[in-house]
Amino acid sequence: MSTTTHSHLPSRHHHSDSPSGAGIAALAVLLGVIVAVLSFGVVVLVKVADDARDDANRAAAGAPAAETAAPATHDHASHAAAASIGGLTSFAGAAPENAADIAAAHTPYDAAMPAAPAGPVAQVHLTLKDMTVEIAPGVKYQSWSFDGTGAPGPVIHVRQGQTVHMTLTNGGTIPHSIDFHAARIAPNKAFKDVLPNQSFSFSFVANDPGVYMYHCGTKPVLAHIANGMYGAIVVEPVAKPLPKVDREYVLVSSEWYLNGDGLTAPAQLDMAKAHASLPDWVTWNGYAGQYVAHPLTADPGETVRFWVVAAGPSFDTDFHVVGTLLDRAWVNADVTSPPQQNVQTVSVPAGGGGVFDVKIDEPGLYPFVSHSFASVDLGQVGLLKVGKVEGTMSH
Ligand code: CU
Ligand code: CU
Repeated sequence: MSTTTHSHLPSRHHHSDSPSGAGIAALAVLLGVIVAVLSFGVVVLVKVADDARDDANRAAAGAPAAETAAPATHDHASHAAAASIGGLTSFAGAAPENAADIAAAHTPYDAAMPAAPAGPVAQVHLTLKDMTVEIAPGVKYQSWSFDGTGAPGPVIHVRQGQTVHMTLTNGGTIPHSIDFHAARIAPNKAFKDVLPNQSFSFSFVANDPGVYMYHCGTKPVLAHIANGMYGAIVVEPVAKPLPKVDREYVLVSSEWYLNGDGLTAPAQLDMAKAHASLPDWVTWNGYAGQYVAHPLTADPGETVRFWVVAAGPSFDTDFHVVGTLLDRAWVNADVTSPPQQNVQTVSVPAGGGGVFDVKIDEPGLYPFVSHSFASVDLGQVGLLKVGKVEGTMSH
């Protein structure tokens, strides 16, 4: 079966003599406003944004002169960033004037772990759709993602030993497929391409507990993941249960590569930037900074478990919670081995997972990030709000 390559190569006709990182600064301002009570965080974010802007300016200053035509999309997009880095145009930090209002009105991806179905079989039905999603305040992207949630797809929660009966319906226009890292199964049979308007089912027994990535495995896989076809499946251990906790959240990291700022028209994939690992945005659960505007919550003294998947397509996530340590860390989501204890940062590789418990006694706002701070600057930061915290936005 042949597959269609849908790579949207960038038009490089962008003006490079205004290499301002205004958009990056705007993001920093937005985040800064939202976490205004978190003075340490504000300082860090603004400092990082400043550094990034300086880097972008330096890179742009050294870049060859581009065509003189100004990008057509710059009519009313007030803060569109267009710095040229290595000949590729970055739209990092692009934001409309009302970005803070949009962030506040945005309904965040529900990070709370859903219940696992009862009984021996978990029926999972994913429908792929071509859809426009928002990946940052006011930034639209033409994705290939999943009905119901967009990107990431729905969190799938099953119990060790359950049979997962998976059906993929292809509601898109090109072949797609679904690859479950939790499965031991012949990929040429189970993960095969499904043609548009077709459905395909396969089953596997979820014998290996942990948290795993699922994603479209159709070539070029880089493009299918970058366009939004990924998600997390939690296989809850039954043979050796994990310690009970009070709250459980699922976080999927991913990066986005845009061929435009996405403010006036939805951006599409810039395959050259994906190959260069030069993202415009890096997100938790598909939307930059969404848990800054809408923090995850816990009460003081509670233990919170984060099930983390790094979807990439290419970036690892160096998971870190500012203001505490990871009390328990099941590195690589190996929940059949004892956890590491009291560690600061744990790497989650692209295509991998990790399980992390934190018990926080003191009320406050605790950012969770990839400590690879370029990713924070591009949007991969959220807040865990412990207890009642005055002065933060809540919706
Ligand atoms: Cu696909
Ligand atoms: Cu994979």
